Amino acid sequence: MRRHVKNNVSWIGYVDWELETFHGHEYNTKRGSSQNAYLIEEEKTVLIDTVWTPHRDVFIDNLEKEVGLDKIDMIVVNHGERDHSGTLPALMEKIPNTPIYCTANAVKSLEGQYGKRGWDLHVVKTGDTLDVGNGKQLIFIEMRMLHWPDSMAAYLTGDNILFSMDAFGQHFASAELFNDLVDRNVLYDEALKYYANILNAFSPMVKKKLPEIAALNLPIDMICPSHGVIWRDDPMQIVEQYARWCDDYKEDRVTVVYDTMWEGTAKIAHAIADEIKAQSPGTVVKVYHIPTSDQTEIMGEVFRSKAIALGSPTVINGMLFSVAGWLDHARALKFKGKKAAAFGCYGWSGESVKLMQAKLSEIGFDVIEENVRANWNPAEADYAAIPALVKNLLAE
Ligand code: FEO
Repeated sequence: MRRHVKNNVSWIGYVDWELETFHGHEYNTKRGSSQNAYLIEEEKTVLIDTVWTPHRDVFIDNLEKEVGLDKIDMIVVNHGERDHSGTLPALMEKIPNTPIYCTANAVKSLEGQYGKRGWDLHVVKTGDTLDVGNGKQLIFIEMRMLHWPDSMAAYLTGDNILFSMDAFGQHFASAELFNDLVDRNVLYDEALKYYANILNAFSPMVKKKLPEIAALNLPIDMICPSHGVIWRDDPMQIVEQYARWCDDYKEDRVTVVYDTMWEGTAKIAHAIADEIKAQSPGTVVKVYHIPTSDQTEIMGEVFRSKAIALGSPTVINGMLFSVAGWLDHARALKFKGKKAAAFGCYGWSGESVKLMQAKLSEIGFDVIEENVRANWNPAEADYAAIPALVKNLLAE
């Protein structure tokens, strides 16, 4: 099937209702996702991107039925990652002479993944245009590091549509297609998790890119990302939201993240959460047990938080591997401007708190000195240390 988007533009992607994880198992897609491809049918017929390899047969059959493969004059590859390019090898077997427009880095990613196949690749850069007929043009805008070096957006004049690739997307399967037809809270929940987990690491580039796009003075009536729903109603709302998110974003929230062996560290985690609420009733507090929680959701919460508290007991002179792994995950997302505290129980050597503090500091958190290190089970003196820890954690 295809879905009408605007005038001669259609959506022709794949709604991945069943998708549970993305980037291997790195990202939990509990609301599924979609891989959005688009068709422009002016004097020229242009296919913008494809879908992930497992759905290639459905996609190619659909394309054949809806438009006819031999009608496709050109293909725009906005990004080489397999969720969007995975169908290209099979499609190009059928239409091998069709020109493909992409960035120089996308040539590297396509040839790196699929080999040199003799495709008719045309390199484009910001400001380059492609006539699609009937007075309309595609204008290309490189989106380097949003989120790959090869990423690009394409803008369709006349219809004022920005095909933004991953930027402004959400892992959100929906039959509704447009932002004004879905629950706004759910949409923003997914858009935020997407930003936190995929784009936050590149926030400095987002911060530079948004004014560059604005400087092009292109009216934007619609933003068509490569995942999730299309921003049709007030499309600039998500651009304005990105401007806030890329600027060391934080809300009045604190996230407590921990793992535990014999429940002692869990008790401290809960006591810290209670104390935050006691000292600052308006602060939103969430507590996550790392091994049993949705990692994508945790990172979304950390992104929104002004501070975190991280807990692990000491095990074999270190911290639990779930916490060590979590710290490496947090390192990759490059959070900035957030405070952090560490806590944990120990029986013998007791290194975990110091190690967590050092790692938190190394990966960009502002670590406070106050901590809770409880020998065996947390005792009254350990709980007595929590108010000072929380006071500093909440201090602006
Ligand atoms: Fe949706 Fe970077 O791929």
